[in-house]
Amino acid sequence: MAHNNPWPDEGNTGHIWDEDIRELDNPPPLWWMLSFYAGFVMIVFYALYYPTIPWENSWFKGYAGWTQIEEYDEEVQVLQNWRKKRFAEQEEQLAALPVSEILKNEELKTYAVKTSKVLFGDYCAACHGAGGQGNPDFPVLADDDWLWGGKPAQIEASITNGRIGNMPARGMMGNLTDKEIDQVADYVIALSEGKGNEPAYAAGKAVYAKGMCLACHGPAGKPLAPTGATNFTDGVWRFGGDKADVIRTITYGVNVKKNGEPIKGTRLAVMPAFKDRLPDPEVNIKRLTVYVYSLGGGQ
Ligand code: HEC
Ligand code: HEC
Repeated sequence: MAHNNPWPDEGNTGHIWDEDIRELDNPPPLWWMLSFYAGFVMIVFYALYYPTIPWENSWFKGYAGWTQIEEYDEEVQVLQNWRKKRFAEQEEQLAALPVSEILKNEELKTYAVKTSKVLFGDYCAACHGAGGQGNPDFPVLADDDWLWGGKPAQIEASITNGRIGNMPARGMMGNLTDKEIDQVADYVIALSEGKGNEPAYAAGKAVYAKGMCLACHGPAGKPLAPTGATNFTDGVWRFGGDKADVIRTITYGVNVKKNGEPIKGTRLAVMPAFKDRLPDPEVNIKRLTVYVYSLGGGQ
């Protein structure tokens, strides 16, 4: 900084750098000052117009009544309206056609599958797994092993009204002894390994008849009609294929209740009805039926 001021009359502050760079003492331009004061006015306006000032347990809501979430909702609504218009034709067809017809229309089927994923994630995946691959105690939907049938109408009925599998504890009459349960457990495990007819399992086979397991699981371990009972011959186990698991299922049954409460040890197998749970059920049940059918196991 220089100590002498070679420009005493130009109104500089006397601060001079690098020989000739001076700090002047001019008033700011008018336009700048006006914007500066306008800024203060804006602060007051802004503070009154928008939600700003914290109040006790709340805040000043602002005279505009504006909220971020409302603005967000409006924008989402715009997008949804656009979608509705864009896919109106497909949605109308889904509403009008039965599932069997939708499946024949490759384009419509693809549309139904694509628009099912979020729905399936929200309403079904917690039990059946994200891609229908099942969870412990919940059935796989992505295979061709069906409890209640894999035809479109059967899948649709499963989703609409729900399903409850029932198996009595200790055989149809409830009178099998521990020894008999042990024998029949060996027999059904043998069935799943294709060894059901070997002489070693004759005793178990007799218990299978005595306990009337065949009424539901079929004379050869394969249900004659889809009634919710397991097919033993496909090697797929829902509640576990270890002997201890199998013994537990036979001893305590499936969905066995006493005084309205499930008994201890019984297997729980309830598919809830979705006709009152899904938004827009008429269309969405069909959509999900097409999706489940297309996971790979539709018949
Ligand atoms: C609370 C758990 C739960 C939810 C949520 C659920 N399910 Fe199920 N679902 C089950 C159970 C348990 C069964 C097997 C019932 C039985 O054992 O008889 C089942 C059975 C089914 C079946 C029959 C499978 C067969 O082998 O025949 C279909 C189809 C099905 N669910 C589709 C769906 C769809 C689609 C959704 C979503 C809208 C859904 N489920 C939501 C628990 C659930
Ligand atoms: C009234 C019909 C009915 C009768 C009788 C019946 N079951 Fe079942 N059984 C079912 C149903 C329903 C299930 C549940 C299937 C499911 O939800 O995955 C089941 C499940 C099972 C399972 C579990 C399979 C798995 O995948 O984990 C075994 C084991 C079994 N039954 C053995 C027997 C034996 C042995 C008998 C005779 C002592 C018998 N059941 C009698 C209906 C019956």
